[in-house]
Amino acid sequence: MANTEGQTITCTAAVAYAAGKPLTVEQITVEAPTGARGAYQDHQHCYLPHGCVHSVWFGSEVRCVSLCFGARGAGVVESVGPDVTSVKVGDHVIALYTAECKECKMCKSGKTNLCSAVRATQGKGVMPDGTSRFRNSKGEPLLHFMGCSTFAEYTVVADVSVVAIDRDAPLEKVCLLGCGVTTGYGAALKTANVQKGDTVAVFGAGTIGLSVVQGAKAREASKIIVVDINDTKKKFAFDFGATDFVNPKTDLKDGQTIVEKLVEMTDGGLDFTFDGTGNVQVMRDALEACHKGWGQSIIIGVAAAGKEISTRPFQLVTGRVWKGSAFGGVKGRSEMGSLIEDYNKGNLKIDEFITNKRPFKEINEGFEDLHHGDCLRTVLNY
Ligand SMILES: NC(=O)c1ccc[n+]([C@@H]2O[C@H](COP(=O)([O-])OP(=O)(O)OC[C@H]3O[C@@H](n4cnc5c(N)ncnc54)[C@H](O)[C@@H]3O)[C@@H](O)[C@H]2O)c1
Repeated sequence: MANTEGQTITCTAAVAYAAGKPLTVEQITVEAPTGARGAYQDHQHCYLPHGCVHSVWFGSEVRCVSLCFGARGAGVVESVGPDVTSVKVGDHVIALYTAECKECKMCKSGKTNLCSAVRATQGKGVMPDGTSRFRNSKGEPLLHFMGCSTFAEYTVVADVSVVAIDRDAPLEKVCLLGCGVTTGYGAALKTANVQKGDTVAVFGAGTIGLSVVQGAKAREASKIIVVDINDTKKKFAFDFGATDFVNPKTDLKDGQTIVEKLVEMTDGGLDFTFDGTGNVQVMRDALEACHKGWGQSIIIGVAAAGKEISTRPFQLVTGRVWKGSAFGGVKGRSEMGSLIEDYNKGNLKIDEFITNKRPFKEINEGFEDLHHGDCLRTVLNY
């Protein structure tokens, strides 16, 4: 490991200058962490998630430009601020876009994983002390992204936005626990708390949806129906544990809706449904396919800016429940260890999501990979 402790570093990063345009791979400078809330990380692997970066970057949600992009990755700590105690130099870590301080009202409530410690500054693209630690090749400041900025060889994150993990865990694989796998698996196990014998439908067989499938299988759900408009996802669905696959474009009878099909397949509707598409019409279908009286629908997908969900209130009056799930309800610093244990025991698939690998400089081609139906995740290696 290079001796970079306390130094300003020049390294390669992918910078976002304009919404929807390719990222610019260039040399940036990264200032050393300071104070109680800084740890910096040599990034060894990050990955390209499909939905999230797409909805933020290619959709209409980009409000700021000039940012050091990326929100999922794993690496090794090379420097920490003087008051940081939760991680130390040499620790292997995963970056957390959902922080966990263990001290704020939200963390202490025991009711949510949505920590409020760095939420405001994270949203503004700066560190908790209000500064940016990145400068582009012209010396101009760059904003941080989702508290992580993992599309850089080195990044600086808040101490609450990083978790130290078992050193034996392969970073090039477990970097996927920084988002999609944890989110879907957690949504099934924590947000929904699926139980043995429950019936489950998962809309969207991306990494999120397939990880919900893994969670439902781990809990021994009796039926796990995957709904996807892309037939190439069928094989993935069965490999991850689905019992049925429905393509709404080809598998419905004339005039039949996907809700009617699912209700027919499950004797009145599902115990749990999950949206892993971000499409608000799908979210409505997912709710309405739930069983009257107790069915719960979990929204995981992130809809495009300005989109709203709707249904007839009667759907809720008659006992269906609509919930949302961020990062699967998982508390990143307290609970990452148990996910890695599940992975080590072979109970949680991660490797199978890595359908593509590329060197970091091919990051824009990596985004192209994601447009092909057979790509789940592209891992970038620095
Ligand atoms: N809540 C969170 O914490 C969180 C975290 C990460 C990602 N997300 C969101 O989860 C969603 C899924 O992410 P992903 O990486 O798995 O995405 P993905 O693009 O890899 O997968 C989405 C899948 O949905 C399918 N799909 C699209 N439209 C459909 C429709 N009308 N009916 C059925 N299937 C359809 C696609 O064919 C694809 O297989 C995204 O919206 C993403 O932003 C949420």
